[in-house]
Amino acid sequence: MVDKPLIEYAVDEALDAGIEEFIFVTGRGKSAIENHFDVHYELEQTLLQRGKTGELDAMNYADLEPGQIAYVRQMSPLGLGHAVWCARHLVNDEPFAVLLADDLIKAERSTLGEMIDVYEQRGGNVVSLMEVPAEHTSRYGIVTPGDDDGSVVEIKGLVEKPAPSVAPSNLAVVGRYILQPAVMDELTAATSGAGGEIQLTDSMARLIGRSPFNGLRLNGTRFDCGTKIGFLSATVAYALARPDLGDEFRAAVTALLE
Ligand code: G1P
Repeated sequence: MVDKPLIEYAVDEALDAGIEEFIFVTGRGKSAIENHFDVHYELEQTLLQRGKTGELDAMNYADLEPGQIAYVRQMSPLGLGHAVWCARHLVNDEPFAVLLADDLIKAERSTLGEMIDVYEQRGGNVVSLMEVPAEHTSRYGIVTPGDDDGSVVEIKGLVEKPAPSVAPSNLAVVGRYILQPAVMDELTAATSGAGGEIQLTDSMARLIGRSPFNGLRLNGTRFDCGTKIGFLSATVAYALARPDLGDEFRAAVTALLE
């Protein structure tokens, strides 16, 4: 995204929300993620020696200290629920947050930070929600809404990727979650759900009624960077918003559109 990788936007959002410990669930071919947060010693020395301070400053990757990051391998791609479950021994018995980095959220304030505010008031579990076109329900986890004050929505049910004809609403879960550790026990017992995958949604649904479960309507724009159009749109949106690039980029894009 412009000049930093997608994963770093999720880390920045979590850092802004006060998160101090990170677990990345990775898999085959993802070692670039593990390397990314290391000090790029050789490159930094070279830039320093050549007096390239501008380039050095541009390497403003998230300021994480040794010990703040752990990596765990999913080993086989069995679904989002399985990926979360792979971190169970690191999460232990504490509430935790899940951020799906593919869901990039461009917002004034950290979305996870806003969710933590809701969590502090209501406890339990909190997810991020957005309205989607009725014909797109089969792409998302969809909620059965209860009390709704226009911002926080009580969640009475959750279903993964329902067809529009059976979807309980058009309120979809965005890839941000604050969850109670009990979800790990549910994941341990989980069988495969929609798409033959171990779905996080199915195990979350089992927490409803046992601990508060609320959704916070998203304040911002969500880009699905798992699709080419989403990734390209996000890159354009972030570039246009950059004080150092915006004007020049707008002119370049306008010229392309003529
Ligand atoms: C995942 C979740 C889904 C959620 C979506 C948000 O689906 O399973 O509940 O609505 O992320 O992006 P995926 O995009 O991995 O199919």
